[in-house]
Amino acid sequence: MPKSIGILTSGGDSPGLNAAIRGIGKAAIGQHGMQVIGFRDGFRGLMESRLVRLDSSSLSGILTVGGTILGTSRDKPHRMPVGNKVMDMTDAMVDSYERQHLDALICLGGGGTQKNALRLQEKGLNILTLPKTIDNDVAMTDVTFGFDTALGIATEAIDRLHSTAHSHHRIIVVEVMGHRAGWLALGAGIAGGADVILIPEIPYDVEIVAEAVRRRSRRGRHFSIIAVAEGAMSRQEADSLRQAEAKAAKADGKKAKRKAKEATTALWAAHRGHTLRLAENIEALTGLESRLTILGHLQRGGTPSAADRLLATRLGAACANLVAEDVSGVMVAARGEGSEPVPLEDVAGKLKLVPLDHGWVQTARAVGTCLGD
Ligand code: F6P
Repeated sequence: MPKSIGILTSGGDSPGLNAAIRGIGKAAIGQHGMQVIGFRDGFRGLMESRLVRLDSSSLSGILTVGGTILGTSRDKPHRMPVGNKVMDMTDAMVDSYERQHLDALICLGGGGTQKNALRLQEKGLNILTLPKTIDNDVAMTDVTFGFDTALGIATEAIDRLHSTAHSHHRIIVVEVMGHRAGWLALGAGIAGGADVILIPEIPYDVEIVAEAVRRRSRRGRHFSIIAVAEGAMSRQEADSLRQAEAKAAKADGKKAKRKAKEATTALWAAHRGHTLRLAENIEALTGLESRLTILGHLQRGGTPSAADRLLATRLGAACANLVAEDVSGVMVAARGEGSEPVPLEDVAGKLKLVPLDHGWVQTARAVGTCLGD
């Protein structure tokens, strides 16, 4: 009997998803004679058995296409909105997998997807995952696909903002995606020559940022580009969040846990719109006109870069080979020019943040970029 595999894409979309679907599918069908189906809209499609047959013709012409032909969602198996309730639908997904007589299910996603995939693996399904996200924050892989494309888009945006900031003698604050991890803001900030880069891993002092801008002004450079990750925080905000998270981790009992969780959610909610407030503060502190540009979902859209197409294709093909060898319970991690299966337990629930002594941090400092600390 030929093997049957399912594929789903989950979490925020990212360039390279279709290249990965194609890589898995072409290798599975062409090299191993498997049958391949896709589930629509992430774990919800698995729960509802909404499928699409993936064959040579449906896999053709998608390599360069952005987004995901399967659709995606942020639904979680154990907390699925159904009608006006939120329910644990894990068993319905196990049933769906069994009804399709699957030999393996491949979940393409970021940190949340790795956790959800592990839940299904623990229910006895054969699960493999690929690491995708523009945030590059999945643990145990050198890099995630989607990151290189987003890095190119954010860098080009910073390049373009330079000329208008220069012409108008303005400060431009540019908000780059990345809630917990600052890879994208740091990478694009260095590549685009931002004067200040603020990332979640390095809480900032607004006075230090303002002084960096004033110093440039004194040297006759009356414009500055400040690249800020979505999740970058002032020292005070970061302290409050750290305390709230520590309290949540220690909370005993359901009620205390819920209250502590609500407190961290409230802090994140209060943080929304912080880049506008930052631009206003810097304007007040420096006397230089400032503007805010939020790059937002532009960073996730459109055709993948060559590097992402290559990465997604090779991880996809490696994944099909692992299924053929009956390997499961792993994420196919990028390791140098190759790949390596790593146990899902080692990935799920972990984030790859920018280490404070990372080469990119050192490089930014070496070229005189202010990191706000
Ligand atoms: O996929 C990760 C990410 O791009 C984060 O950087 C960003 O905070 C988030 O997605 C936005 O998600 P959504 O599209 O659901 O608003």
